[in-house]
Amino acid sequence: MANYKGEDPVLVTRDAKSKVHTFLNMCRHRGNRICRADAGNAPSFMCTYHGWTFATDGKLVGVPGYKEAYFEELDRSQWGLVEARTETYKGLIFANWDPKAPSLIDYLGDYTYWMDMTFDRVAGGTEARGGVWRFAAPANWKFGSDNFGGDNYHTYITHGAGRFLNRAAGGVDNGFNDDPSRVNVSTKHGHQANNAWIGSVVNTRLQTMRPLEMKQYYQDTYAESEKRLGAERAKQITIGPATTFPNMSWTNNMVRVWHPRGPMHTEVWHWCIVDKIMPEHLKKMTVTTLVQGFGPSGNTEQDDGNNFVACTEIGRSPLGARQVVNQPAGLGHEFKSENVPGILSPRIGEGNQRSFYARWQEMMNAPSWDRITIEPRRFSLL
Ligand code: FES
Ligand SMILES: [Fe+2]
Repeated sequence: MANYKGEDPVLVTRDAKSKVHTFLNMCRHRGNRICRADAGNAPSFMCTYHGWTFATDGKLVGVPGYKEAYFEELDRSQWGLVEARTETYKGLIFANWDPKAPSLIDYLGDYTYWMDMTFDRVAGGTEARGGVWRFAAPANWKFGSDNFGGDNYHTYITHGAGRFLNRAAGGVDNGFNDDPSRVNVSTKHGHQANNAWIGSVVNTRLQTMRPLEMKQYYQDTYAESEKRLGAERAKQITIGPATTFPNMSWTNNMVRVWHPRGPMHTEVWHWCIVDKIMPEHLKKMTVTTLVQGFGPSGNTEQDDGNNFVACTEIGRSPLGARQVVNQPAGLGHEFKSENVPGILSPRIGEGNQRSFYARWQEMMNAPSWDRITIEPRRFSLL
């Protein structure tokens, strides 16, 4: 399938030996795309320009006119597809062009403690449903990443209409006086998650879950979830939204990648995810509900998008671009827990933003992976 890593078009394949590969989606002859399909099966990929053909393991296996035009002098072994190092975690595929980068498991580190709440809650893990949803906005990609990674603060105003409807339907909304045992989490390498419960976990997510048939599913799978994750995480039912640094965001029912298209545009690729063992009608319900909220014209998506666009647009203003913006909420109120990994901060605060941008700055200034510390620099005493 064709996808992107940042601005680079890539092609992800599974070869005859079931090995997963990530290649630059570029014909080695003159650079044409060799795959344009979102998904499918193919024994090989033939470039539509002059017909060079590549196997699923990236080898160049066909060159039209090899004898007549190249006099059999082209060393085909040197012109296979450009490959990235590819690793997987719980069904998610990650790739890195730099052979010196840390392994995926080191890069994710103890953040997997939180990721597993979504991707390993029940046997079989998750699957994507409803295809890939793509939409673009004239906004810098980091606004999406930082928003999903740690911005509960905005929900009271930006998503005020949704909160109003929730209250009108009898839902409880304590505003800023929310449960103080709910926190945001930031782990090494800049990964983040919102809304973890720590300490004496109150199982309110399950109690208030609607519709009732979805609540029933989570009740039915609770025992298994507790066996896999332990009671502390199982009782929380879900966590998120969250951002795996730098640009993969997720919740219990979505994964999205914020693909940069230059500094002023973002192309969002979004998948609905469901537990593989979830009954079919609940899978369909999850897709429908998600479209209404986070589809390209979903209520929540539209609420957010306009803010991201305007925050980016101010960068075109000569005076605006010279101003300093701020993220001090909760500064100095970060803390650690012996029981869970990461640095914890008030869920209505900007601790995760500080972590995200400190990490980004560190990576942008580092000449190589050797110069990047495992623990991100903190704007606090921790
Ligand atoms: S560009 Fe692909 S075969 Fe020529
Ligand atoms: Fe939002």
